[in-house]
Order: sequence, then structure tokens, then C-alpha cells
Amino acid sequence: VDIELTAKEANVQLLPGSKTKVWMFDGNLISGDKTAVQKLGNGYLGPVIRVKKGQKIRIRFINQLPEESIVHWHGMHVPEKDDGHPKDVIGNGETYIYEFEIMNRAGTYWFHPHPHGRTGPQVYNGLAGLFIVTDDEEQQLKLPSGEYDVPIVIQDRLFDGNNQLVYLSRGRMDRMNGFLGNRILINGNLNRELSLKSGCVYRLRFLNGSNSRFYKLAWEDGTPLIVIGKDGSLLDRPISMPYIMLGVAERVDLWLDLSERPNGSQMVMKSLSFSPGMMGMMGGMRNRRRNNLPLGSTYDVLKISLDREGSNNFQLPQKLAVFNKLDPATAVNRSNPRTFSFFMRRMRWTISGRTWEMTGVTEDETVKLNTTEIWEIVNSGGSRGMMMNRGMMGGGMQMPHPFHIHHLQFNILERDVSGVDSRIWNSVKDGFIDSGWQDTVLLMPGMKVKLIMRFEDFKGLFLYHCHNLEHEDMGMMRNFKIE
Ligand code: C2O
Ligand code: CU
Ligand code: CU
Repeated sequence: VDIELTAKEANVQLLPGSKTKVWMFDGNLISGDKTAVQKLGNGYLGPVIRVKKGQKIRIRFINQLPEESIVHWHGMHVPEKDDGHPKDVIGNGETYIYEFEIMNRAGTYWFHPHPHGRTGPQVYNGLAGLFIVTDDEEQQLKLPSGEYDVPIVIQDRLFDGNNQLVYLSRGRMDRMNGFLGNRILINGNLNRELSLKSGCVYRLRFLNGSNSRFYKLAWEDGTPLIVIGKDGSLLDRPISMPYIMLGVAERVDLWLDLSERPNGSQMVMKSLSFSPGMMGMMGGMRNRRRNNLPLGSTYDVLKISLDREGSNNFQLPQKLAVFNKLDPATAVNRSNPRTFSFFMRRMRWTISGRTWEMTGVTEDETVKLNTTEIWEIVNSGGSRGMMMNRGMMGGGMQMPHPFHIHHLQFNILERDVSGVDSRIWNSVKDGFIDSGWQDTVLLMPGMKVKLIMRFEDFKGLFLYHCHNLEHEDMGMMRNFKIE
């Protein structure tokens, strides 16, 4: 597969009246299967790239933006030169060539720019697309495909009176808390209605492509969500959940059975209310007053209209993917996990007190090729005592952080919520998916997760960071090195 991917300025009709200036990815297939590049909606979002495990892909990224950029393939297991590290940015008019083999399992991945300090605005302006991988195992399951495999990217945006995107209007506070828009967009469009066929079964692939907003997704009528996949894999079996907490950059694959639903009916997906646990000098209350869609409030995300009849006969397999979780007994540091702690120091968000350095990496962040490790990620914002003990400034400032690591997929071994305020925990506790292979995990204040991961195939410098894009741009991002 050979693809040309151009990042450029464009104007799209999102609202009545003036067109909106955006930045977008334009995908062009140079050679390979025609289904490899598909348009995603008719808004600003980039294409859906569909590939199969084992395929070789070449992507020629052409930067026609008025600033530097580089593209990262979120969740993909690729060599350092293809990972889209901020040090590899190219300027206006330049081309960067990616060439790699698809080594990942079937899953829903995505791509977005990754220049340091500018990821937030570039994604916000419209630069993101989906990267969907299939493999033989998945194909044998005969899951809904073609028009029955529906990508749904959720984002929030803020528009001014002239229909233009507004970013970081509140400056420092938006950066500290993360930017929140006041309108939800689906697939880069304000029209949030999806027309599906009654009598059919669908696979819905959700990506939370927002800068910092996260969701508690549920069907309005209480229908449980049937989850079949998360990030980088199918689950081993379908699970039924009342709602799903979808952190920034996380993906979830749902099975939606409309076979018993009458033609002419509707389903609404909402984000339900929850307690995000934002506290401190710039916390929740002020946020609420400035935005009609506060984080944790209830609002509609998506409407599904069953306005056509059809039939298909996909069956929900009771067994999905086959895989063995990594075994903690094989971890080289099983008795002494590496710990990374997310907290604020001197009015900056840090990871264990460190912030971004372009090529800087410490011993703490250096691992050996062909080893398995356990990492403990701690959102220490919630435990005031601990922060005070360590003499950190900004004690009491707490908020959720979505942890993401490049280059690999991990298993979640354990989610320790003993430090999470019970009001927060009770409002989100049934929404986490801890099985399968994942690359992003949402940590509520006070939460600790133990992840197990294996470093294989490639040495190099890769990233781990908070995927709240404002936090990331502010430096809540570090390198780790595989040697
Ligand atoms: Cu979505 Cu560093 O990535
Ligand atoms: Cu990534
Ligand atoms: Cu963060």
C-alpha cells in the first residue's frame, strides 16, 4: 500500500454561513487495494486507512501547513523513524516518508500530528484520521464489515460568531485544565445523526479524538453496550456494560444489534453525568460557569436514526480473539515495578517531576530489548498528603490524566482505586475495560494502574505521555529508550 497524505489548510462548511478554516489530512492512494483509503464523513477529519497485518505500507507525508509537523501512528508498533517523534518534524513544503510493516493485531488505531508544543492546536484544527488494522483471526470471525463497520470519532469544538474555531480562549486556565469545546462533533461534523438500517447488526468503532474531554457513553434507553474491542485488539469475549468511560485517545468497538428495532425508531447515545474530580485553584466550578458543556455533565453525543430497512446475519461470536496476557512472573521487575507519577509541580504538570526534553531520557526511562516489565502509573493529584510530603507545590490540584505509551500495547494488571475519592469512583466505576491490549488508560485522580508490557523488535527512543493534548504540549511527556 502506497499512500500520499497531505496536511493542508482548507475551508469546510460546518455551520450555516461562513465556512470554517480548518487544517486537514488529504489521503491519496498511489497504489494498493482501493479500500485502503476511505473518506471519513464530510467534515474536516482525515481519511480512514485500512490495512492488514503483514502488509507493507509506505506513506508520503507532505506538509503544506504554515508550520512544522510530523505524523504519529497511535498504537502502532513501528521503528523509531516511523513513530512520528517530535524531533523528526518537517517544515512547510517538505515530505517525510514512512515505510513499515503492519505488525499489530486487528484493532482500531489512529493517526495525528505530534510536533512538540503544537499537537493540541494541530489536532484541534482538524488533523486526525483512523488507521484500522485487520488480520486473519479477525476475518474468520465474520464481524460486520463494509457499510456495517462504522467509524465514529467524537470531538468537541468551540466556534466564534463567524463560525471559526476558537482554541485556548482562556489561556493559562485552558492549558492547565485542558481545552473544552461547547459543541460535540461526530466525524468532523456538527451533524451528529447517523442513519443506519433497522434489522441489521453493526460494528461501531468509537475514537475519542478530543483534546481533553472524555465521556461516559451510554444509550439513553438503558440498552447495555456490548463491547468487542478496545484500542489494539478485540477482547477475548464480548462484554456487556452499562456505560463506558472513554478517555482521550481511547477506542472502543461496540456490537450494535438493530435486528429487533423498528424502522423509524431512534437511539441516542449520551454522555452521562459523572464527577471528574477537578479540584484546585482552577478547578471545576469556574469551568462550569464558562462552558455550557462542562466536563461530567449530561449531554447527547450521537443520534442513530433507523430510517431504512435491511437485513444482514452477522452473529456475535462468543469467543473473539485468542491471546495470552503477558504473565507477571516473566517481568524482569516483577517485585519492583517502575513507577511514574502524574502530578503538578511549580504550576506545571509533570511525570514524576520531569517535563519534556526533546531527546532527554533518564536511566529510569531506559529498558532492555526483549524484556517484559511492569509499570505502575499513579495519578497522585488525588492524594494530597503524598504531594505535601514530597514538598510539591500545587498540592490539591487534581484532575484526570489519560496515560499513553507509544510503540506497544499493554495489558492492565490491576487498577487500584483505594486512593480515589468515593464520589468520583462511584460515578465512573462500571465504565472501565481492563481486558485486551491497550495503549491508553484513563486515570482518575488518586488512581493507580499496573501495566505489563513487552519491549520487542526495535530499539529506539519512543514517547510516553499524558494524552490530554494541552498537558502534553505543556511538557507532560517524556522519552523512554529501548536499548
Ligand atoms: Cu496519540 Cu503520542 O500520541
Ligand atoms: Cu501514540
Ligand atoms: Cu494530563
